Amino acid sequence: MALNPADGKATLTFSDGTPSLDLPLYKGTIGPDVIDIRALYGKTGKFTYDPGFLSTASCNSTITYIDGDKGELLYRGYPIEQLATKCDYLETCYLLLFGELPNAEQKADFVGRVTKHTMVNEQMQFFLRGFRRDAHPMAVMTGLVGALSAFYPDSMNLNDPWQREVSAIRLIAKMPTLVAMAYKYTIGQPYMYPRNELSYAGNFMRMMFATPCEDYKPNDVLVRAIDRIFILHADHEQNASTSTVRLCASSGTNPFAAIAAGVACLWGPAHGGANEACLNMLYDIQKAGGVAKIGEFISQVKDKNSTVKLMGFGHRVYKNYDPRAKLMRETCHEVLGELGLHDDPLFKLAMSLEKIALEDDYFVSRKLYPNVDYYSGIVQKAIGIPVPLFTAVFALARTVGWIAQLNEMIADPEYKIGRPRQLFVGSRHRDVKPIAQR
Ligand code: CMC
Repeated sequence: MALNPADGKATLTFSDGTPSLDLPLYKGTIGPDVIDIRALYGKTGKFTYDPGFLSTASCNSTITYIDGDKGELLYRGYPIEQLATKCDYLETCYLLLFGELPNAEQKADFVGRVTKHTMVNEQMQFFLRGFRRDAHPMAVMTGLVGALSAFYPDSMNLNDPWQREVSAIRLIAKMPTLVAMAYKYTIGQPYMYPRNELSYAGNFMRMMFATPCEDYKPNDVLVRAIDRIFILHADHEQNASTSTVRLCASSGTNPFAAIAAGVACLWGPAHGGANEACLNMLYDIQKAGGVAKIGEFISQVKDKNSTVKLMGFGHRVYKNYDPRAKLMRETCHEVLGELGLHDDPLFKLAMSLEKIALEDDYFVSRKLYPNVDYYSGIVQKAIGIPVPLFTAVFALARTVGWIAQLNEMIADPEYKIGRPRQLFVGSRHRDVKPIAQR
């Protein structure tokens, strides 16, 4: 994409005698301008240093925009609040993949294509059998998603737009089946095959909770809640797992392998694993005495010498309430109301903890607000999804975002294999001594 020059330029001056350098500035549609430093090394022999990408845009993108100060999230320009209330997940997938919301005909065609790919190769269940029954679902998902490349060799070529589209449909369609299989395997129940007459979220619920012994009708409120979880997690611009997918795919590997890398990255507790960590944190506080112990817990969080964090709080980009958390909180009320769990002690504890943290200067001064994971764990738990599976549900939902970002990268004429540089601070050249002299 041709970048839009901003008014003016950036001039970099040096105190070591290196001549100063003018660098181009580009303007986004919204958001901060960027300084194009690509010529820096060639012209000065120097790199920039930015571990954690605090000030570095790794790509240009048209997919998702976050205004962290306002607490705003847009997919292709549409506010998340509108998408979460007016669209379903597959419409959102279409939007992320193709740039526009589908009309009725496009939607029917897309839903039909996804629905026809929901089954996985029967051999997949034998592969799954190699895992321990108590393996963490994210260990299983990393393996299963990577293994898709062994089953679908006809959609592996990243440089072929048609194969990319087929692999995208396959991944979106098969993720719910794989997550449900990973769950059924742990509890020793038979896998439930997908049912094409059900919605995407309804089908997922059935594959998770039905057994062959009796009929199962997914509850509409819970189906809507699951669908909303999927929408809210569908994309989040250049976060750790998305950047992982982009970097992985930049080598030209196949889409299934790149998405498996995203799953692996998402697993971490600072990223997608936070919903699981958050619920475990709430359990621990409850075990220690519940609401009465919140003060003690908050003191531990604030203690500079402790590593305890308030999980589900804070975000690299949001320095205001995460808009997804607001929507998730609403869904949380709906689900608990539907299931008669409003007096659930864990939910009451979560509400009290949130209130106390939001009034505490430690969190206020650092602009730490609840993120999406604070409530999504409670909703999933209420629906009956076991805690270790939470991150796998996040991976299911995020798959479309990863694919949309990967497609965007491959289609960008400026795309190159990702190759960060380093500031080397280790030993200079030295010689190996014989072992007796070391
Ligand atoms: N609890 C207590 N203190 C915190 C927390 C927290 N959850 N988050 C940040 N801080 C403190 C941090 O210690 C630091 O304090 P100080 O300035 O005194 O050193 C300050 O706030 C700034 O934090 P940071 O670590 O520089 O912020 P970051 O942008 O590097 O980290 C984060 C962002 C999400 C990793 C972090 O807030 C965190 O670990 N939160 C808990 C885990 C979590 O909920 N993650 C889910 C993120 S949303 C879902 C997703 O996108 O994956």
